[in-house]
Amino acid sequence: MSRKGQAPEARATWKALRAHQKDFGPVHMRDLFARDRKREQRFSAKACGIRLDFSRHLITGKTLRLLSKLVQEAGVGDLRDRMFAGEHINTTEDRAVLHVALRAAKKDRFRDGEQDCTADVHAMLTRMERFVGGVHDGSIRGLRARKPFTDVVNIGIGGSDLGVGMALKALHHHRVASLRVHTVSNIDGAELADLLEELDPRTTLFVVCSKTFTTQETMTNAAVARRWIVGALGAAAVARHFAAVSTNDEAMDEFGIHAESRFGIWDWVGGRYSIWSAVGLALALAIGMDNFRAFLAGGRAMDRHFRKAEPEQNLPMLLAMLSVWYNDFLGANSQAILPYDSRLGRFPAFLQQLHMESNGKSVSRDGRAIRVPTGTIIWGEAGNNAQHSFYQLLHQGTRYVPVDFIAPDEASSPLTDPHRLALVNMLAQATAFAFGQTAEEVRADLEAEGMDKQAIRDLAIHKVHRGNRPSTLIRFRRLDPRTLGSLVALYEHKVFTEGAIWGINSFDQWGVELGKKLAREMEAQV
Ligand code: F6P
Repeated sequence: MSRKGQAPEARATWKALRAHQKDFGPVHMRDLFARDRKREQRFSAKACGIRLDFSRHLITGKTLRLLSKLVQEAGVGDLRDRMFAGEHINTTEDRAVLHVALRAAKKDRFRDGEQDCTADVHAMLTRMERFVGGVHDGSIRGLRARKPFTDVVNIGIGGSDLGVGMALKALHHHRVASLRVHTVSNIDGAELADLLEELDPRTTLFVVCSKTFTTQETMTNAAVARRWIVGALGAAAVARHFAAVSTNDEAMDEFGIHAESRFGIWDWVGGRYSIWSAVGLALALAIGMDNFRAFLAGGRAMDRHFRKAEPEQNLPMLLAMLSVWYNDFLGANSQAILPYDSRLGRFPAFLQQLHMESNGKSVSRDGRAIRVPTGTIIWGEAGNNAQHSFYQLLHQGTRYVPVDFIAPDEASSPLTDPHRLALVNMLAQATAFAFGQTAEEVRADLEAEGMDKQAIRDLAIHKVHRGNRPSTLIRFRRLDPRTLGSLVALYEHKVFTEGAIWGINSFDQWGVELGKKLAREMEAQV
């Protein structure tokens, strides 16, 4: 039964976890593996083609049992069911949280009060399909162009940019050959200026993506792009060279967005959860509508799993349980995301917003000050680059950073052998993090190299790797649209579960609003 309103640290299981953490003592993963030969099988789970190996963690069967009890005691299942039922669980904005409806099958029933969300979503997908098809076959083209659009530029920021940018890179090998799709987000002008130098206005389509259509960065970039188009092709070209995704019809009218090229979004979709909506238009243009629908199907499969599986087999819940264990009981305050596939190079940035804008809060859903650490700091970088950048700190630093390794079994490019090496590196790193290298092992290595005794005495301590550094391996067969959809939904529901455990409303972002307001006020003075 749910215990809404109870502070996390007041829960019986929270206290039991504290006691368990003290009993745990200075255990080493070497011992955990030595004691249990089946550890890798016991601490692994699979769903939607994604395999989690969480054996390299400072947990025992008891830890897992207590954490899954915490999930139950915190009422995660109850809140999840209320989210899927369209209740207004985003209480500070009085909104439903129904990004899951964006990937619904036609038969699924999602409502926000009187609104039939499933029907509206499918009507929107049909319109997107028509638009994407028209751009691809050239029936939708520039004002003075003899050939179809060659370039699409998504202008947006935060949730109106990060998902699109991440997925464009991740699914590069699924793109349609005839179209290049770019993203512009920052306000300083450099990104857009560099891009415009390369583009031909006659064959460039801009997608202005902004739920509010008031965001300063996006509106500034859109205005520059508009001037560029009008300068080259005249004012009549705006209606042909701009599409938009927004809730703000009035602002789209004022900008000159043609009715056929505007796509709505709803209040029940948060920016950082919006890649599944028409916010994904630039992505759909890049990979085609069949692939976009496969991406949605992947998200839907993870939704089903999240709703049905028991906590100890539930992938999003498992990730959240581990995260809470380290964040709140073992003193880690950040987590690194380390994909061993360059295509997932923007995944850490995408996850930063998803986690930190959702759970970076210090007040609970019912208005209490939260007294336990919340909102894990997320950071990371793609595989081998990271090894040659910050892994030193991860291996031997005084800080303690659990990591998620993510990789497909198959290469995302024709270069299969280098991908094999990337996987070897990932597994080697996971092994080094877990087991380290003891002083005896270091000394034996140095002796075998023929080093003299005094030099060994001086050097050995610098080469010791304490190990015991936790990591999760997240593996799947290949990085395709469906799997990417499941992967994104996996983390969305992880964030949801963490927020429910901490008692946070993961769906507002008041912390971003103050800065926006001040920037607007100061704009006149600078
Ligand atoms: O960064 C804060 C934020 O409000 C995000 O939640 C949102 O994704 C982003 O700004 C962009 O907002 P909009 O889509 O309205 O331009």
